[in-house]
Amino acid sequence: MAAQSKIKASEIIEPGDDDAVALAKRHLVQPWPYAGSVGNEARALIGEGDGIYITDASGKRLIDGPAGMWCINVGHRREELAKVMYDQAMALSYNTPWYTMNAPSAELAKRIADAAPGDLSHTFFTTGGSSAVETALRFMQFYNNVRGRPEKKLILSRGGAYHGSTYLSASLNGRPRDRDWMDGADDLVVKLSSPDPFRRPKGMSTAAFTDFLVDQFRDTVARVGADRIGAFVGEPVQASGGVIVPPDGYLKRIREICRENDILYVSDEVVTGFGRLGHVFASGDVFGIDPDMITFAKGVTSGYFPLGGVIISERLLEELRRSNHPDALFGHGLTYTSHPIGCAVALKNLDLLEEGVLQHAREIAPYFQARLKTLEELPLVGEVRGLGLMACVECVADRESKDPLQLDKDVGKRIDAHCHELGLLVRPLINMCVMSPPLIISSEQVDDMVAILREGISRTMDDLRKEGVWRG
Ligand SMILES: Cc1ncc(COP(=O)(O)O)c(C=O)c1O
Repeated sequence: MAAQSKIKASEIIEPGDDDAVALAKRHLVQPWPYAGSVGNEARALIGEGDGIYITDASGKRLIDGPAGMWCINVGHRREELAKVMYDQAMALSYNTPWYTMNAPSAELAKRIADAAPGDLSHTFFTTGGSSAVETALRFMQFYNNVRGRPEKKLILSRGGAYHGSTYLSASLNGRPRDRDWMDGADDLVVKLSSPDPFRRPKGMSTAAFTDFLVDQFRDTVARVGADRIGAFVGEPVQASGGVIVPPDGYLKRIREICRENDILYVSDEVVTGFGRLGHVFASGDVFGIDPDMITFAKGVTSGYFPLGGVIISERLLEELRRSNHPDALFGHGLTYTSHPIGCAVALKNLDLLEEGVLQHAREIAPYFQARLKTLEELPLVGEVRGLGLMACVECVADRESKDPLQLDKDVGKRIDAHCHELGLLVRPLINMCVMSPPLIISSEQVDDMVAILREGISRTMDDLRKEGVWRG
């Protein structure tokens, strides 16, 4: 391993050299594997990244359509970030967060508090998104224990949600297939409908659909009992569920019901935070809500270092400090909490975002959305939807039934394979393709991306017709 880590990426990816792929097949367990191929799987080997591009093992340059995994917000190969990592490692590479602290984490917590909505004032730093959601939920449990409300612990989540892969965060997930073969803390979670306007009942207006969702939320609180519900966890835009943009006003109304019922509102901004919707946080600036907690990760370091966190309302902390249990211990900590390198990178990343990347994201987003929307001309495409620099192309067998199931369920993977040939990496999701490029993408690069996607979908339509899978 030590010898391999000294090899530069460009040396690993010589055409025809499949060493890394062979090693992975023998020794690596990759995420989201099927039982039939677990521990024996070749995935596209990526060697280098630069700006919005990555280079695969054959030397082919591809647009990084998913920005890693909604991560590489300021683009690959930013020397400023690499330099900060080096400098911080040379100054202080690590300190124990149990009884010491470091300056970058305190400074970052202050900058995050300045950018956060409402009275969100303090951050607990984690190693990523799952641990951020997990921390928010454990904090809710502790908070209600200290308040003498130990029965107030249930969590409301929604279909289409993705909140992580640790046990409790994964228990909130509501996407198809995620939980078919996996256990979860089902006795702690109550599920609600996804706010997906595309799949609203036939003939129902968007306004009526919004009322339905809000009524369902209120009825569920009444049925289950507000005294048993501790938190609602929701992504402002359901990201991995297929970029589900909620109908206007829905989040504000849910936020109010939570406030009225003493249910903590946790806004999961692991994807939407740090620029994807053109702002550091979308909860306040895009949706006009002030959550009790916000979770974030990914874009906070543009993926250069694993870091996440949960921002907590001053009101909640103040209530704990003034409680009758000053000795109650929040028994929660991570070895890499407040990691100095991660926090230093995040500070520089925030500079880059605030010095121009956020503004660029706001300016390019309408063009990005409009160009992608033209793909609705293709008969396989049921809907193109999105917000900011996140979008989804959803394929359906026919627009009347909107049925994705009659279609080959891996249509997203087929499109991705064609696009890979043509120079674009796509994130396939069953019958969908999710696009979330680095925020620095230019209008010419948007044109390239959409042209490749159009050709990739057209080739997929030809394949499906030839195989008799689809008659569109
Ligand atoms: C909204 C949301 N929350 C949480 C997570 C989990 O984050 P991580 O994979 O960093 O643990 C993800 C990951 O994609 C996510 O999209």
